[in-house]
Order: sequence, then C-alpha cells, then structure tokens
Amino acid sequence: MALAVRSGHHAMSGVEFPVPNMFAPVSTPALMIRTLSWLVLAVCAVIFVVVSYLLIHALVRYRTRAGEDAHEPPQVYGSTSIEVAWIVLPLLIVVVLFMATARTIFGIERAAAPAGALQVTVVGHQWWWEFRYPDLGIVTANELHIPISESGERRPTYLRLESVDVIHSFWIPQLNGKTDVIPNQPNVMWVEPVQAGAYYGQCAEYCGTQHANMQIRVFAHAKGAFDQWVATQQARAVEAPQVAVGRAVFMATACVNCHAVRGTGAAGTFGPDLTHLMSRTTIGAGAARNTRDDLLKWIKDPAHIKPGVLMPAMNLTDGQTQAVVTYLLTLK
Ligand code: CUA
Repeated sequence: MALAVRSGHHAMSGVEFPVPNMFAPVSTPALMIRTLSWLVLAVCAVIFVVVSYLLIHALVRYRTRAGEDAHEPPQVYGSTSIEVAWIVLPLLIVVVLFMATARTIFGIERAAAPAGALQVTVVGHQWWWEFRYPDLGIVTANELHIPISESGERRPTYLRLESVDVIHSFWIPQLNGKTDVIPNQPNVMWVEPVQAGAYYGQCAEYCGTQHANMQIRVFAHAKGAFDQWVATQQARAVEAPQVAVGRAVFMATACVNCHAVRGTGAAGTFGPDLTHLMSRTTIGAGAARNTRDDLLKWIKDPAHIKPGVLMPAMNLTDGQTQAVVTYLLTLK
C-alpha cells in the first residue's frame, strides 16, 4: 500500500535526493502518526463508500424512466428516528476521531525524554540548517547524525528548534511530522529511528528565494557507528602542513567572519562550521556535491549555484581559489 520512493536528481547539481515517503515511517512518533492516519482513512473510506452507494442507488433506482410522467413523489416530514440517527451517528464518529487524534498528539508531545536521549539544537538560517550538540561540543550543518534505538536501549533525539531570521519548518517525513521553526519561539520535537539509514527532509515553510534548497539529510547510525562519528567530530581540525598556502588565504579573507574552523582564528557563526566540512556529502544545504569541482564553482560564484545565497563571491584569483579548496579538502 506504501507509495513507491522515487529517486530524484537535482537538475543542475547532480545531487542525489530521494523523495521522502511518509507512508514508510521508521521512527516512533512517525509510526504513531501513521497508525492514526490509517484509522482516519479507514473511517472516512467507509463513510465515502456508504454515501456514494446511497447516492448512486437513488439516482439509478428512482430516475425518471421513458414513458413515465414526471410527477413529484410523496414527501416525508418529521421522522424523529431518522433525524436522531443522522445527528447521533456523525457526532459519535467525530468524537472517536477527535479522541484518537488528541491521544496521538499528546502521546507524542508529552513523551518525556528517557535517560539515553540525545539533545540537538537545530537552528534555521536562510538557507541552511545548523545542528549543535551542546552535550558533545559538536557543531555541524545540513546533515544530522543521530543514533538509532535498538532493542533494550532507547536513544531518541530531542530537537530544540530555533531560527535566526524567518519562519522555517523542519520536516523529515519518515521520522516525525513537521514543526515550525520560529524566531524567538523555540519549539521542540523528537525523532527515534529504529533502523539505521539515510532519511531525507526539507524545509516545509516558504522562507525566501532558496527555500527549496534547504534540504535535510539525516544519517541514523547503530551504536558503534554513531560513537565513531562523534569521536571524529570532536577531534580538532586537521592541520596539514602541505596546505599552508590555502589556509593562509582562507584566514586572511572574510571567510573567517562567517565560518568557523575550531581551534583556529576562524570563528564566524553566520555560515556553516567548516571544522569537519569533508564529513558532509553536500554543500549549500544540498545545492551541490561536496567535491573539489563543486567547491571550486561554489567559492568562485556561490550565487551561480544558489541564486540569492548570502555568501558573497570573494573575488579570489584562480590560484587562490584552488589553494583554498585544497585546504578545505583536508578538513576531514
Ligand atoms: Cu527554510 Cu523554507
């Protein structure tokens, strides 16, 4: 019954971005939402079938036939039993749907975080996502890495949603419903994947020119793999001696006003943290691949790939751009 997952390519960038399938939940709250959806769909389907049958039956059975004189049939007034039935029955149906919905909403919203829960702060920016792990000292962008819940050990991730500019909406259909990301009004939501894998999401509230290029990639890991990712992210930025030229260009330009590379003079917070840039698969929140070619094009003219992007072209020479990219490629 589930809809097929289409595998799509961004026309310009060649970035793989499968269309997420909300009928294939893999996370506790998303599973609860699906159960409710099937109940609502089933009740509505029964109503649809009964009403359609009565309508078609009346049209066919009581239509005017050839040779029949079209007189008005006898009219029925004031049947208490019929009136009670068509008031009480819909009322009962609405009450059942209301109770079931309220139960699911509260079940998800009021679920207390268990001891093993991971806390992540999600910050919406025009047009990318910042992910901060306050307890782990990790800051990354656009690609959220989280643990899965395994038998006997629950490890849901509790997300605190903040925005630094306009209203965004955080939505990973296979993990939970969507939640608005509002400036000065932190919202919370949680996800609990029970299966390792990559899950795709998208900003779901129009937030400006590049709303569509505000993709979310979630990588859910089994325990060992997640701990390994954490260790990698907590490590200091690689300082390879052979890329000193590129590093010097990077540190001497305005790059450092917006980007941070932990442990260096670069401490900007307007743009994505680059400490472990090369651990990500895409750049520009999914606008391009994270490869030498795309990094070169991106730094030369970000607006060519992502019109409206807030990162300016730095007007570096070709040699300088090459050197900066060579440096960035070492930030593993
Ligand atoms: Cu952010 Cu749409």
